[in-house]
Amino acid sequence: MAKNEKNAPTMDKISTLLDILDIDGVPVLVSTKEMWDKIYNFPARPDDLILATYPKSGTTWMQEILDMIQNDGDVEKCKRDSSLERCPLLELKFPHKEKTDLEIALEMSSPRLIKTHLPSHLVPPSIWKENYKIIYVARNAKDCLVSYYHFHRMTSLLYDPQNLEEFYEEFMSGKVAYGSWFDHVKGWWAAKDTHQILYLFYEDIKKDPKREIEKILKFLEKDVSEEVLNKIIYHTSFDVMKQNPMANYTTLPTSLMDHSISPFMRKGMPGDWKNYFTVAQNEEFDKDYQKKMAGSTLTFRTEI
Ligand code: A3P
Repeated sequence: MAKNEKNAPTMDKISTLLDILDIDGVPVLVSTKEMWDKIYNFPARPDDLILATYPKSGTTWMQEILDMIQNDGDVEKCKRDSSLERCPLLELKFPHKEKTDLEIALEMSSPRLIKTHLPSHLVPPSIWKENYKIIYVARNAKDCLVSYYHFHRMTSLLYDPQNLEEFYEEFMSGKVAYGSWFDHVKGWWAAKDTHQILYLFYEDIKKDPKREIEKILKFLEKDVSEEVLNKIIYHTSFDVMKQNPMANYTTLPTSLMDHSISPFMRKGMPGDWKNYFTVAQNEEFDKDYQKKMAGSTLTFRTEI
């Protein structure tokens, strides 16, 4: 589908657009709002592993790493289905699927790997209650913004921004699905002090995947051989995942994700924001960033 066609106001598109509603002030897609009671009452199980991220922070990458760990580095098992099918996104209903991902999760056998983009204060209480394990991946805001912009362009789930300038304003004011990046990363950062959360950074995983995967193994109390560890690193590298149809989302209908507009596996490189931000934008961003992150102990690398 050409970009112009994607811009065309179909009924589906309009309802997605108009119904970015909010839960507790956090913008969410219409399907999330519609099934909010079910999401909030989702019954987590003790052996669930929850992967939480702000969109475009390396969710699919971490999912692949965790699936490889759970399957002891068996690449074929990890190709049993596409990313979206292997690990439900708790709060969404994808238009090409009959069931909501929550329904799919309820039918899954344990141990389940479930992902969510919800901010920490909206996570179903059952997950907090039993103190189940959660892995959170954060990515620096500049690269996250650029990645989210391109994702908006290629998916019919989200509105089509006119240009980066427009999207920049929306992102900085938190008027995007899942709300403010700032509130998200800070909320989960605070939550880790009272819950079993392993808080990881996209840039660290890129810089030293072995060290970060070892952290995950320790958190999950899991041991793998050096050979399996190397297999996990290789299979989850950007170039290998980009070629893997079960990990790169190319098996989804083009009406949902159009990789000819922008591939899902786009660049995978910290510092790509430099190719998009103007000098003025960058200065404005840094000023705003200081204000919004004031008092936080969280630090990010915007390049490696
Ligand atoms: P870019 O758009 O910057 O390339 P999410 O899965 O949360 O939607 O995040 C998508 C982002 O993670 C995209 O970023 C994508 O390219 C990147 N990504 C996916 N797999 C990766 C990998 N193995 N290594 C590095 N980045 C990866």
